[in-house]
Amino acid sequence: MRMSRMIFACLLSAACAAGLSQAQTAAGVPHLQKQGDATQLVVDGKPFLILSGELTNNAATALAPMEPIWPKLVAGNLNTVLVGVSWAQFEPEEGKFNYTLVDGVIAKARENRMHLVFLWFGCWKNGTSSYPPYWVKKDYVRFPRIQIGEGKTVSISGPVELLSTLSDATRDADAAAFAALMQHIKEVDGTQHTVLMMQVENEVGVLRDSRDRSPAANKAFAGPVPSELMSYLQAHKDNLIPEFREVWAENGYKTSGTWEEVFGPGKPATLEIPIQTFDSLLGPLEHENSWQHLHWPSDEIFMAWNYAHFLEKVVKAGKAEYNIPMYVNAWLQQPNHAWPGTYPSGGPLPQVHDIWRAGAPDIDILAPDLYLEFFDDVCARFSRNGNPLFIPETSTNPANVIMAAGKYNTIGFSPFGIDGNRPIPPDLAAAYGILNQFSPMILAHQGTDSIAAVRLKQGDPPKQVKLGNYTLTLTYTGRSAHIAPQPKGQVAGSPDPSPAANPEPPLEAAAILIATGPDEYYFAGGGMRIDFTPNTPGPQNVGLGDVQLGNFVDGKWVVTRQIAGDDDAQGEILILRPYTIMRATVYRFP
Ligand code: DGJ
Repeated sequence: MRMSRMIFACLLSAACAAGLSQAQTAAGVPHLQKQGDATQLVVDGKPFLILSGELTNNAATALAPMEPIWPKLVAGNLNTVLVGVSWAQFEPEEGKFNYTLVDGVIAKARENRMHLVFLWFGCWKNGTSSYPPYWVKKDYVRFPRIQIGEGKTVSISGPVELLSTLSDATRDADAAAFAALMQHIKEVDGTQHTVLMMQVENEVGVLRDSRDRSPAANKAFAGPVPSELMSYLQAHKDNLIPEFREVWAENGYKTSGTWEEVFGPGKPATLEIPIQTFDSLLGPLEHENSWQHLHWPSDEIFMAWNYAHFLEKVVKAGKAEYNIPMYVNAWLQQPNHAWPGTYPSGGPLPQVHDIWRAGAPDIDILAPDLYLEFFDDVCARFSRNGNPLFIPETSTNPANVIMAAGKYNTIGFSPFGIDGNRPIPPDLAAAYGILNQFSPMILAHQGTDSIAAVRLKQGDPPKQVKLGNYTLTLTYTGRSAHIAPQPKGQVAGSPDPSPAANPEPPLEAAAILIATGPDEYYFAGGGMRIDFTPNTPGPQNVGLGDVQLGNFVDGKWVVTRQIAGDDDAQGEILILRPYTIMRATVYRFP
């Protein structure tokens, strides 16, 4: 009772706090909405969890080769797919737009009951500028490139095909094309909502140097930090991301001055770094989590401001046509990539989130392309200061989607290259299968204290989670979750380590745990044993009441198996097998 009242109150306050026009919510247009400390994507009036994959870059540059991909996505239980839209193909001649691919992809997505997130490959893709149209690329006077090193536009490894952020002409051309795209999406999809969100550009940032060193950039860098940025930082001083705040603090929290006066040194002019070896400037850092640490902070901060400022104009132009959530994605700093330029300098990395927020308030989400092994840490870093989490690129590890949805309130999860040669991994398809059914319950509880998620690797000690009136102890059981006979000295229910009992590779166990009432729980995921200990006064012995395996069909719980006897060690052991959903009630006795 207490729990459902709390959730109802949360939903009410979320609607009030959303600050959306009634027309926008009534029409069901995709938008973001707060629920407790979570931010959710709401589509057609209901929260929606994106279970997706991103296509390889050019998969949708023609419609026919897409044909065999759609059934694969459906078989993998995806509800959404992330698809690139190339500026070159969309606007082959200035002012002339070609809607064929966008319309074709929308039609096929609908036929396959799938949603879309379009990726606008405009000025930048992986730092560089390979997707702008030919008429942009060849006009290097109207659309200038950045310069690196000492004024180079050509590095030893090739041209620096990277449009400068400091050109109004470039910005306006990109914004006009993006606005045309959004206008068209509204026209064809403004009532059906197949398209949920837009990614604007892809992994922006300067590569092979820490900043643009064109004359225009050098002049801006030698000038004052814009007052707009200074005012933002002063107004948010107590809430800045700590690793950025540290940089500003080290320089005495100056409120005016040049970039280097306010934020410390950029790359010293005297530091010779041959361009061809820049990529190999790797080495161990003092901190394992190196993305905490800013080297040459002014360069990275300056570039972050310029990208954000540029993209704000693009996003604004698009939203003026059709206002759905928009995000930018970050190529993350790898643990051994110490210097901006070995990763795209100025991209929306955690250390410069505040700069992006100041420069681009209309961007809704700063998103990580999360290939790092520190998955949970990155989720936490990208969830600070109210940034909603969305993971547009990652690997196919199903434990990660379970953690992202159950612990970090993600809006969605999307492994990259999902159309690749191999089939979608069965474990990911199985995880998506249960999450699709379970998502209304996850979304109803996100942002409250009635939901948790736990990950356990083989060999991990048990973990404890306080949830509702009980503390749950989670113990790894793995893929087979075989309840072993009890050799001397072994605890009942511990996994049988024999190869015969565990023929497959070890599972990374993960589960979402939800308390739906004082003595009732739902679990989704698996590979673990769950034990209950009361954490409120009263009798301290706990028994298993109803233990059920089941599915949600049209949002209703349908029991597929009632569990007792051999399947729960005669009522003593609750095991959540991989990729299952379970409901359990518990009771206490003296
Ligand atoms: C990250 C990029 O954002 C993707 O478009 C793609 O190029 C992958 N890297 C390739 O691994």
